[in-house]
Amino acid sequence: MDTTSTLSIGAALLTGVAIGVHWKRISSFFFTTTTTTTTNKQTTLSKRLKYFSEAQSISYKNTEPLMALQTSMQYVIDSTGTSFLDSRNNVGHVGWCHPHVVQAIQEQVALCPANSRYLHPKRALLAERLLAHFPKELCVVFLVNSGSEANDLALRLARTHTQHHDAIVVDHAYHGHTNATLSLSPYKYNHKGGERYKQEWVHKVSCPDMYRGKHANMANKQQATMEYSNEVQQACQQSTTHGKKVAAFFIESGMSVGGVILPPEGYLEQCYTHVRNSGGVCIADEVQTGFGRFGSSFWGFQQQGVVPDIVTMGKPFGNGFPLAAVVTTKEIAASFSNGLEYFNTFGGNPVACAAGLAVLDVLESEQLQQHALNVGNHIMQRLRRFVAQEAQEAQGSSLATIGDVRGCGLFIGIELVRDTTTKEPATAETSILCSRLKKENRILTSIDGPHDNVIVIKPPMCFTLENADALIDAMLKTLPKITQEEVLQFIHTPT
Ligand SMILES: Cc1ncc(COP(=O)(O)O)c(C=O)c1O
Repeated sequence: MDTTSTLSIGAALLTGVAIGVHWKRISSFFFTTTTTTTTNKQTTLSKRLKYFSEAQSISYKNTEPLMALQTSMQYVIDSTGTSFLDSRNNVGHVGWCHPHVVQAIQEQVALCPANSRYLHPKRALLAERLLAHFPKELCVVFLVNSGSEANDLALRLARTHTQHHDAIVVDHAYHGHTNATLSLSPYKYNHKGGERYKQEWVHKVSCPDMYRGKHANMANKQQATMEYSNEVQQACQQSTTHGKKVAAFFIESGMSVGGVILPPEGYLEQCYTHVRNSGGVCIADEVQTGFGRFGSSFWGFQQQGVVPDIVTMGKPFGNGFPLAAVVTTKEIAASFSNGLEYFNTFGGNPVACAAGLAVLDVLESEQLQQHALNVGNHIMQRLRRFVAQEAQEAQGSSLATIGDVRGCGLFIGIELVRDTTTKEPATAETSILCSRLKKENRILTSIDGPHDNVIVIKPPMCFTLENADALIDAMLKTLPKITQEEVLQFIHTPT
């Protein structure tokens, strides 16, 4: 070896050492500053309050916020290692951190997370497998990141296709957090701070609630259904009178924040006829209800025997990975291809597609749709037996009881009332019950409905019969124990 080579090797070694030292310094700086996360709950809470807006709410804020550090199938595990049974999160659709989905995401993120302008076989395959779950008319897919984006795009598609502007929505509906979708969401614009999103191009109709809605007391259910759908016809006419026309009728296939209201039989068919006669299109929002949750059908709209013009979906699609979609007809997609490019950086990137494909795999291989039907039926049968028994034995000394049990598959609403005849909403008792279920039984539940008195059961689809019994046992045991003092305390400090 000559001197030059020796020097070169020496220099290279020194450079290597220098790079090594430098890298060590950089990396130690880098890693210590970025990975120092504290698991101290109080510190985390104060940083959350300091760095985020109060508009970003925290669950159980006034009792004991939950610091979820791990999730596994139908369980959420907090910073003390305590497991909570999850009866509320439909995002972990096939089971939180299902190993098949986790592996698919990990492998794909290590390979290629590039954007959708490049071809990728997983994107093509996902579209094909998703569309296999739709009637043949619905044959074009847009992949996006969230339910709000999906509904925002659905409105654009409807407006571009029909050249109309207005929209019809159902009272208390929620369709998203963008400017346009807030205006489609009476659940938001009818509440404090939301007034400016109330727009004259949005026509609101009554929620077709057959328990406590506007026409719920009619003895003839078909007549009640028609009264509800006639409001959609009137909204179409009203829009035309104002020189506008209806572009879209938005409806959740099962009203979720509305308190698990499933439209009565025939309702969608009648509404679709009115909307289409006015030149509008019909949009089914399946963000909460899709992907087999109803058990007896893959999509909620299929319960009503209709075919929407546009379907939007999100939450469960990626099992926690951001993935949502809009599915529409060839004709609507053709109108949208008018020269203006639709580009979405992250929407349907190969990692999202890997997640979506894995979710579809697990749904099939574990037959979760059928499972949702079995477990959901069991929950509803047990609760309805309780309601029938209560009716015979009178309510006793309990401050609140179950007024109505409704839903389909693992999308169930349990409406609590103070009196089954007057249907006075048991708002305080519902909130107290949910707090106690978390504290005493380590069960997570959620509350919705215009009066905040409906417990919504929409768990990961692997929720078992034993989980269902544990939930019902705890609920029925706790409900009669709620005291007047707790109710008074709730009125002063809502949980
Ligand atoms: C029915 C419905 N549509 C749309 C959305 C908006 O979805 P995202 O929060 O993913 O934007 C939601 C969210 O809760 C929803 O419940």
